[in-house]
Amino acid sequence: MANLISTDVAHVFDGVAAEYEAQLARNPVAGYMRAELHAHFARTFHRGDHVLDFTAGTGIDAFFLAARGVRVTAIDISPAMIAELRKNLVRRGLPIDARVLAAERLSELEERYDGAISTFAGLNLIADLPRVAENLARAVRPGGCVILHGLNQFCLWQATASALRHRGERGGALRVGGKRVAHFLYDPFALWRAAFAPHFKLRQAYGLSILAAPALVKRAGRLAPAIFWADRIVGRMLPAAGDFFVLDLERRA
Ligand SMILES: C[S@@+](CC[C@H](N)C(=O)[O-])C[C@H]1O[C@@H](n2cnc3c(N)ncnc32)[C@H](O)[C@@H]1O
Repeated sequence: MANLISTDVAHVFDGVAAEYEAQLARNPVAGYMRAELHAHFARTFHRGDHVLDFTAGTGIDAFFLAARGVRVTAIDISPAMIAELRKNLVRRGLPIDARVLAAERLSELEERYDGAISTFAGLNLIADLPRVAENLARAVRPGGCVILHGLNQFCLWQATASALRHRGERGGALRVGGKRVAHFLYDPFALWRAAFAPHFKLRQAYGLSILAAPALVKRAGRLAPAIFWADRIVGRMLPAAGDFFVLDLERRA
């Protein structure tokens, strides 16, 4: 763990909610990761399943699942992020149960879910992940799947860039809308062992953005798809070397 800096996470995300999706759309590596995650969700969750997104933000993943006939409960600690999600709900007319709720208070949800997700570093903003894991174990049915997409402790492209420039360590301040936000970086396997292993089996782990550094992808132009193709392969071989990791967990019986 690293970088307990301070801060009111909800307030910080309230400040960027209106611009959040537009900013993300400008980042091709984020688009690549989102496509990988959605392919993973499509393989895992099916029409009629009920899935909990416990750091839902503006609901990008919730809408993807709902459009495929999956029932979604979307929670987030930031009222403005949930307000953006609700605006999209009106526009898109999909049934998503959206609530302002901290992941640490999952025990207040009474339903049983077929699975749960957290993407784009939402879990790196949660201080008490063992508690969240325990509550998830109660909320997700045995055999249900939890997919976690978080910021990794070590990142190959960043370590290489830092070594070449003889500076910079991973784990500096995370800034959202210009404000510093407290965050925690994890090795995916250590995180699984420390918080999730008592309740969840590890089915699969892979890395994303191991080779696909944003600066490289921007410079690559038409070769960017080749970088993403290589990244996908290397990510399976080096699950703990990407900017992000994905853990696919199964609720123990
Ligand atoms: C970077 S955004 C990702 C949002 C969304 N998953 C996506 O992929 O676009 C991280 C989200 O986690 C939420 N978050 C942070 N800490 C949280 C907590 N303890 N409980 C619930 N949500 C939290 C933030 O409010 C923010 O909306």
